[in-house]
Amino acid sequence: STRHNFIIAIDGFSSCGKSTLAKALAKKLKFAFIDSGAMYRAVTLYFIRHHIALDDQQAIDNALNDIHIDFIPNALKTEIHLNDEDISEEIRQMYISDKVSEVSAIKAVRTAMVAQQQKLGSRRNIIMDGRDIGTTVFPDADLKIFMTADPKVRAARRYLELTEKGEDVTLEEVVENLANRDRIDSTRAESPLRQAEDAIVLDNSNLTPEQQLNFVEEEYLKIKAAR
Ligand code: DC
Repeated sequence: STRHNFIIAIDGFSSCGKSTLAKALAKKLKFAFIDSGAMYRAVTLYFIRHHIALDDQQAIDNALNDIHIDFIPNALKTEIHLNDEDISEEIRQMYISDKVSEVSAIKAVRTAMVAQQQKLGSRRNIIMDGRDIGTTVFPDADLKIFMTADPKVRAARRYLELTEKGEDVTLEEVVENLANRDRIDSTRAESPLRQAEDAIVLDNSNLTPEQQLNFVEEEYLKIKAAR
C-alpha cells in the first residue's frame, strides 16, 4: 500500500473488551485511539433527540448533514463531542444501547460514518475498534484482531460496568441487549460483523487485560520487525 501510517483494526461482538484493549494499546504504542462504536452511538442520540423516523430517508439525510462528531483528547481521556457538546457519558446509557444496532444498520448512516473513519485514519497511526474495521473501513489494515469472549463473561462484565455507574439494570436485561445486538450486527445487509480472513482471533474469556495487551503488542512487533 502507499500508506505511511500504521493501522490496527480491532473488531468483535458487543462487550468483548475491545475498547479497553484498544485504549491500553494506544497508550503503550502512542497511537491515536478511535472508538467507531461511539460514533454510531452519537448518531443514535441525535436521532432520538430529533425524533428521526428510521424509515424517513430525507430526514435521515438531513440529520447526517447536520451531525458533526469530534474526538477531543484531554488530560484524562478522549471526549466525544456531538455538535460541540460532550456526550461521552450520555451515549453509554442503556437507552442508546437498545437503539444503536437499528440505527447503525441504516445504509446512509454507515456510508457517512465509514467516510469519516477513513479520514480519521488517513495520516496518523491509529487503533480503531468496531465491527467492520478490518473488513470495510480499513481492509488493508496492518494488523487485524478479532475479539471474542464467552457470552456469560461478557454479560457479567457489562453488568458490573453499568451498575458501578449507578444504572438501574438487571443482568437479564444486559444478556438480552447483548444477544440482540450481536444478532442485528451480524445479520444486517450493510457490512455485517464478521471476521476478516486475515484477522488474528483473540478469545479473552480467561485473559487479564495485561495478557491481552502483551499478545497484541507481540503481533505488532513481529509485523514491524518484518518490514
Ligand atoms: O462498540 P459499541 O458497543 O459501542 O457499538 C455500538 C453499536 O454500534 C454496535 O451494537 C453496532 C454498531 N457498530 C457498527 O455497526 N460498526 C462499528 N464499526 C462499530 C459499532
